[in-house]
Amino acid sequence: MKTNESCVISPENQSVQIRHLEDIQSRPSCLRGKGVTKIFGTGGKQTVAVDHVDFDFHEGELVSIVGESGSGKTTLSKMLLGLLNVTEGEIFYQGKLRDISTAKKKREYWKGIQAIFQDPFSSFNVFNKIDTVLLDCINMCGGRHFSKEKKIELMTEACCFVNLKYAELTNKYPFELSGGQMQRLMIARVFLLKPKILLADEPTSMIDACSRATILDMLLHLRDETGMTILFITHDIGLSYYISDDVYIMEHGKFVEHGTADEVILAPKADYTKRLISDVPKIYEPWDLSTVKY
Ligand SMILES: Nc1ncnc2c1ncn2[C@@H]1O[C@H](COP(=O)(O)OP(=O)(O)OP(=O)(O)O)[C@@H](O)[C@H]1O
Ligand SMILES: [Mg+2]
Repeated sequence: MKTNESCVISPENQSVQIRHLEDIQSRPSCLRGKGVTKIFGTGGKQTVAVDHVDFDFHEGELVSIVGESGSGKTTLSKMLLGLLNVTEGEIFYQGKLRDISTAKKKREYWKGIQAIFQDPFSSFNVFNKIDTVLLDCINMCGGRHFSKEKKIELMTEACCFVNLKYAELTNKYPFELSGGQMQRLMIARVFLLKPKILLADEPTSMIDACSRATILDMLLHLRDETGMTILFITHDIGLSYYISDDVYIMEHGKFVEHGTADEVILAPKADYTKRLISDVPKIYEPWDLSTVKY
């Protein structure tokens, strides 16, 4: 291992994740934000969901954004995707001020940035069968003119990547799948679309620990194969340590700490980060529930 790498072994699947520390900071920026803010509502009923955040995500980096419920993670990810307007601040995509002012520009932007959401059930059109979902991805990436055989080959390969069997899925609707299968189908879509940036908002929230390890492995594998940047949004600071190069800690809409996973989690500076770390239950210690409010 090189001196600028650190090695982490995940307790869930024993897989080894190599962090390329210095290397990442020298890579080009793919998504940068300056003073990005979102205020919902008007007058006396305002909620500042995201409050003047600055960030810089690099090509091929796996960044975790960690914070408690309501801290603004999903709101920020929706602004990054262009699904919500930014109230104040600027977002730069691949070094240039992002311009998604027309539907055409937005479609072009979405070729480079895709998302997997917390709730996979809301991510698919209920009237589209699974092969339509996958075919749409092939068409979006310029494969509209491919032969039927080639399209089936690509869909089979994508399903295989996420341990699903294309032949068993082809005539089904997304709602006929389990939550875990649906989450895998979302990753199969990403495999076909190969965006430059993948935004994963709690992608493993609906699945058991074993499937969770598999999904995380798939995401890391995708990143290594395609060099995509992954923004991983989670409550779970322990998980973020195992998978991330960089970590941003979010509290009440602000980033209170940022650094490499080792810096933030092994030597936290902000009180909020320290609290998040101390809240991770230790498996062999009795849980202290005395502070829990009912
Ligand atoms: N459409 C909306 N209108 C008004 N307020 C909103 C809206 N969406 C989010 N909020 C508020 O913005 C704040 C941040 O919400 P957000 O969903 O971004 O949090 P989160 O960090 O993703 O939480 P969780 O971990 O529970 O998913 C919350 O106070 C929420 O109530
Ligand atoms: Mg959320």
